Amino acid sequence: MKSHPLDALAQQLVAPDRGILAADESSGTIEKRFQAVGIPSTEITRRDYRELLFSSPGIDQYLSGVILYEETLSQIGRDGRRLVQILEDRGILPGIKVDRGIKPLPGQPDESVTEGLDGLHERLAAYRGQGARFTKWRAVIRVDEERPSSLALKANAEVLARYAGLVQEAGMVPIVEPEVLMEGSHDLDRCETVTTAALDQLFMALKAYRVRLEALVLKPNMVVSGTQCNRPASVETVAQATVQTLARTVPAAVPGIAFLSGGQSPEQATQHLDAINRLATRLPWRLTFSFSRALQEPPLRMWAGKEDRIRQAQELFSQRVRLNSLASMGRYHPDLEKVA
Ligand code: G3H
Repeated sequence: MKSHPLDALAQQLVAPDRGILAADESSGTIEKRFQAVGIPSTEITRRDYRELLFSSPGIDQYLSGVILYEETLSQIGRDGRRLVQILEDRGILPGIKVDRGIKPLPGQPDESVTEGLDGLHERLAAYRGQGARFTKWRAVIRVDEERPSSLALKANAEVLARYAGLVQEAGMVPIVEPEVLMEGSHDLDRCETVTTAALDQLFMALKAYRVRLEALVLKPNMVVSGTQCNRPASVETVAQATVQTLARTVPAAVPGIAFLSGGQSPEQATQHLDAINRLATRLPWRLTFSFSRALQEPPLRMWAGKEDRIRQAQELFSQRVRLNSLASMGRYHPDLEKVA
């Protein structure tokens, strides 16, 4: 089979024992996260926080890439280097979130479609020029008794596929993220049904738009019970349902799957990733992490904007990254948290 230069880049993103840091929170989202720990959100505090993360010791052994928000792509750190340069100097690939967020889906109350295709072709060329090697687009699928509608699944799959095609043409690897939300009282079976439907629609659309499956990374949710479900599933059940769902829906041509954490606690997300990898020994793709909250909560809380806590915050961040790297190989144990 003919290979394509982007295939190697996609494989690099999901290389063994590596994962991806999602640090692409929009200014609105990071403001909420900062507020929760008493930090004002300014261009400088956002830059300082991201510089803290990117220069943490040892992370280059475990991270293949970092997803950035547009603002970060051009920011210069305190040491005079662009933040992108800090990553490149450590052999970590810089990526960029390119969607423009979710907007109401007409005629479907409380459902959304992700926007950002207008002008994307031109923006992609500019991002590539600024050093981005890969991109991300997030679609959001809400779950309750009536949702998602088949229209919401279809509309989101369609834009994800159009986005992915444009990104490959621009010489970058698309991360394709159809997130089935954890919020809600639904149980694990319902999450499995909805995730299966979302992934089926997605791969149908990706094929229709002739997106090269070998040159993308899938970023799905794990199959979990909803946050308000009164029968939360065990770690083992989550792992089994997740592996089964992916085995039924994701073609073997896809090189890797990098999960979002979706509101799970850091320890929970790591435990689930580990259990999934212990089960998935004969599956065709690499299974790793592309977490935001599950990697960042401990260091953000520790830092809280205080200069004298930078070192400790970095240690917590490095530790989380290392534990998730172990989990991506099925070699994590909860006892390792105590050492941390
Ligand atoms: O788009 C969502 C982020 O990339 C992943 O965030 O791990 O906090 O769900 P999360």
